[in-house]
Amino acid sequence: MAAKKEIKEIYSSLKNEINHHNFLYHNKDQPEITDVEYDQLFQKLLKLEDEYLFLDKSDSPSSRVGDTPQSDLKEFLHEVPMLSLDNAFESEDLYDFEKRVFNKIKKQKLHYSCEPKIDGVAVSLIYEKGKFIKAGTRGDGEQGEDITHNVKTIKQIPLTLNGNNFPKKIEIRGEIYCEKTAFDKFNKEYSKSDQKTFANPRNFVAGSIRQLNPEIAAARPLKIQLHSLGYVDQKNFFKSHHEMLDTFLSWNLPINPDIGLVDSIDAVISYCEKLTNKREALNYEIDGVVIKIDDVSLQQELGFSSRSPKWSIAKKFKAEEGTTEVLSVNFQMGRTGALTPVANLKPVKLGGVTISNATLHNMDEVERLDIRIGDFVKVKRAGDVIPKVIKVEKNKRKGKNKKIIQPTHCSSCSRPLKFFEGLTPNLDLSKLENEDQSCYGYSQFKETLKHFVSRQAMDIDGLGSKTIDQMVDKGIIKSIKDLYLLKKESFVELDGFAEKSINNLLSSINKSKNIRLSNFIYALGIKEIGLETSKNLSKRFLKIENIFSASVDDFISVDDIGEVASANLHAFFSDKLNIKFLEEIINLGFKLEAEKVTSQTSKLGGKKIAITGKLSFISRDELKSKLEDLGVKVVNSISKNTDYVIVGSDAGSKLEKARSLNIEIISDKNLDTFLKQNEN
Ligand code: IVH
Repeated sequence: MAAKKEIKEIYSSLKNEINHHNFLYHNKDQPEITDVEYDQLFQKLLKLEDEYLFLDKSDSPSSRVGDTPQSDLKEFLHEVPMLSLDNAFESEDLYDFEKRVFNKIKKQKLHYSCEPKIDGVAVSLIYEKGKFIKAGTRGDGEQGEDITHNVKTIKQIPLTLNGNNFPKKIEIRGEIYCEKTAFDKFNKEYSKSDQKTFANPRNFVAGSIRQLNPEIAAARPLKIQLHSLGYVDQKNFFKSHHEMLDTFLSWNLPINPDIGLVDSIDAVISYCEKLTNKREALNYEIDGVVIKIDDVSLQQELGFSSRSPKWSIAKKFKAEEGTTEVLSVNFQMGRTGALTPVANLKPVKLGGVTISNATLHNMDEVERLDIRIGDFVKVKRAGDVIPKVIKVEKNKRKGKNKKIIQPTHCSSCSRPLKFFEGLTPNLDLSKLENEDQSCYGYSQFKETLKHFVSRQAMDIDGLGSKTIDQMVDKGIIKSIKDLYLLKKESFVELDGFAEKSINNLLSSINKSKNIRLSNFIYALGIKEIGLETSKNLSKRFLKIENIFSASVDDFISVDDIGEVASANLHAFFSDKLNIKFLEEIINLGFKLEAEKVTSQTSKLGGKKIAITGKLSFISRDELKSKLEDLGVKVVNSISKNTDYVIVGSDAGSKLEKARSLNIEIISDKNLDTFLKQNEN
């Protein structure tokens, strides 16, 4: 048998060889060997790994799809917040941007990096000593989800960076996307086999990278381009943005081939024009140009605002417009009983997406536009927002097109509109005695349920908008109470529900019975009662039963509650049907915990505390609530005004900053003692 050392060498050079061919195929589009030859190399690798267990397989090409499915997505903390960009729509906005920059730095020649703004899904990759460690989504910018198992399947991403000049730890950011042609091909195949199709490449990518089973992502044509830096543990590792991109490329990380370096705003504008002309011809979707000041020391001087860097701006393409015909107008009922007119349009393609309806907002807007059935209208779609009718082409109106009249009764059950006012949340479809799903009660109930399960309300994971629509359409849920009576068998008729997701959903529903009183009040969807008001109500009344008997004056005496809100609250809680609904569902085993009133004597009252790193004993949300109960203001960034920093494992730049500012650091291991000492 060959010596261990020799086998390790053979193994390592085989890994390098496969990585090299991977790179040529996926990053360069220039394969040097045939697929069969590649497979042979791969088989050889698998055989070695099988035979010699001492080999280090952590960065092996064979490890890309090796992960077993995850039970859920773990949290991914961003060392440096993942911000967004300010937008520019006109050239004027770019000159203004330049002016703001020159106000802050001494006038000098600026260089700008101009880059296609890819319409994909943002991702952060962590490399340590050149080895790929993990990847995460943006999430809320501070905390995303760990999608390492899926990102590893993207063959363009090197598991080991090429070369040897890399920092100990670096977080590199970019965009995962899908090429237009590959997307179309996939969608066609889905529709042939009667599977759900995706609205656009970005939705397709977003749905792929959050899958628990990496085999799904591995089978989808995902691509990546890297464009920015999150965190690097060495000061001034890169002097300029373009040098950083060159370095990424030398590490075998893909970057966009159309990036340009220019030296004036006029040149930026002409770059934008050129890219606009090229847009259709690109095989991936872009929605603008990202402009960045190239010099890193100037970037540092300019700094950040709370939501975006002051050294970068996104010039968005003009919204897509097109003309089409109004076929009919439907009215959709929201959860509060308000009707929204929606124009049903002859399908028209805007920026690659087919539009077949557009919101008309309300009757005032219908009148303002003077829109009628059969009219030709100009519609506009900007990014993700719902398409809008912006103008009626009155000169194209032939004859008398029919005016749009707000219905006074439901076209299905003939009940007057008033009937639907404020019916939520005790709405019970079985009591409507109407199987016709065009009845307003159905859409009102769906919207009620969507609000009820949402994150700030009951926070039920796994019940998205489409699932709710399906469950209501199929008669599986007819009232909120039904949600709590769901069993495994209830899901047989639903598409795309695997056993695991059913179990997760049922446990998430069950978990929601133990919830803060404030979230529960908010979930009820009472008019004018948002989360903050719900918190104040919870602090004041402590128990839901205490609210049942409250008078209008009792409500008015609560912080931030005025006459309108207190009238709404009183109307809601004096309605017998509402109380019956509340009692019934609370009796299903709800435990509603009131917000603690900030203890006057809490030593932490008014203090500013930041949290960083991975906490071992408590979730971030829980800790945040606990601290808030003690009157703490939980802050995202660290400054000299921060009083304490609570630190879990793997903490990075925030911990360093806290140390440099001499802020007291509390390890999460000592959290209990710290909280006890400060409770009162
Ligand atoms: S740089 C501080 N460069 O657009 C943000 N972003 O709307 C720095 N995006 O969050 C990001 N292409 O997800 C940058 N060439 C590019 C980009 C790009 C697409 C995305 C990115 C960002 C979002 C901002």
